[in-house]
Amino acid sequence: MEQIIEIRSLSKKYGDFTAVNDVSMAVEKGTIFGLLGPNGAGKSTLIRVLACQSRPTVGHAYISGLDVVSDRKEVLSIIGVVPQENSFYDELTVSENLNYFGSLYGVPVIEIKKRSHKILDMLKLSEKSASRAGALSGGMKTRLNIACALIHKPDMLILDEPSVGLDPVSRKALWDTIRTVKEEGTTILMTTHYMEEADMLCDRIVIMNRGKIVVEGKPYELKNRTGESVILITSEPGDYQVLKTEIEKKEPILSCNIGEKGLKITLRDEMPLDEILDIFSSHGEKIKIVGTSKPTLEDVFIHAAGEAWH
Ligand SMILES: Nc1ncnc2c1ncn2[C@@H]1O[C@H](COP(=O)(O)OP(=O)(O)OP(=O)(O)O)[C@@H](O)[C@H]1O
Ligand SMILES: [Mg+2]
Repeated sequence: MEQIIEIRSLSKKYGDFTAVNDVSMAVEKGTIFGLLGPNGAGKSTLIRVLACQSRPTVGHAYISGLDVVSDRKEVLSIIGVVPQENSFYDELTVSENLNYFGSLYGVPVIEIKKRSHKILDMLKLSEKSASRAGALSGGMKTRLNIACALIHKPDMLILDEPSVGLDPVSRKALWDTIRTVKEEGTTILMTTHYMEEADMLCDRIVIMNRGKIVVEGKPYELKNRTGESVILITSEPGDYQVLKTEIEKKEPILSCNIGEKGLKITLRDEMPLDEILDIFSSHGEKIKIVGTSKPTLEDVFIHAAGEAWH
């Protein structure tokens, strides 16, 4: 597969602080790539470098072989950046906004017309083309924000937390939008804090922590990493905080979290379960339910994010 993004030993420092630390990665053309990680991991910093909004301190990043620093102008013509704040003008109509962004990118008027028609159809905004942008619903505004970044038919679309503030229905609609954009052949790079979203949408993800990539792979590969299981234990009286503190001290425990129905423990397969059950009984806890499950992407995330904090 052809690579569209290539990042080589890239670091970004703010004074003495290293926000992105020696990151190397590649994104395949035509895929949806997710950048995950806890707050402050360096996701937006990395995205800003790729979007030519900030320069790397060390290293290089290439988009379609073009250097984001020395070929900035060409890079800007082949990427579309969807900012977190809506970039369109509330007072203009939907199609006036597209005209505006099209001319900003230097797209010929006749092309803008054709392209607007296609994008509005693709993003299910055709009926709203004459409506004032400010009067659209939240979900439609998100789609218009994306539409404005697509008017020059970029090879790659960059979105930083596109689904923040959307209700579950609008969020699912956004996933459809992103998939449609992918079907048109556009590569997508996005950040998200919603693990379900990354799992449903992304072909490949990286998890960053403290400026470094700590996990990389396809969501299903990461969830199926061999040698780990997740068990869920419900007990009575269910003083889970105390149990969690105790269980976390055990060496082979990868993570232990209080869930809705009990303790969710991720452990290495070779760890004997009775050691954990003993902790429950030593605290006078009566076991009600023991269940096992496959790790979710959230488990992978918590594990990866936690690891680097120790
Ligand atoms: N302009 C800046 N000047 C100084 N420090 C910065 C600047 N921008 C970001 N940082 C720092 O760099 C680190 C990474 O920030 P960044 O915004 O990239 O994180 P993030 O992964 O996007 O986090 P979030 O999930 O909260 O959006 C943080 O510690 C942040 O405080
Ligand atoms: Mg961010």
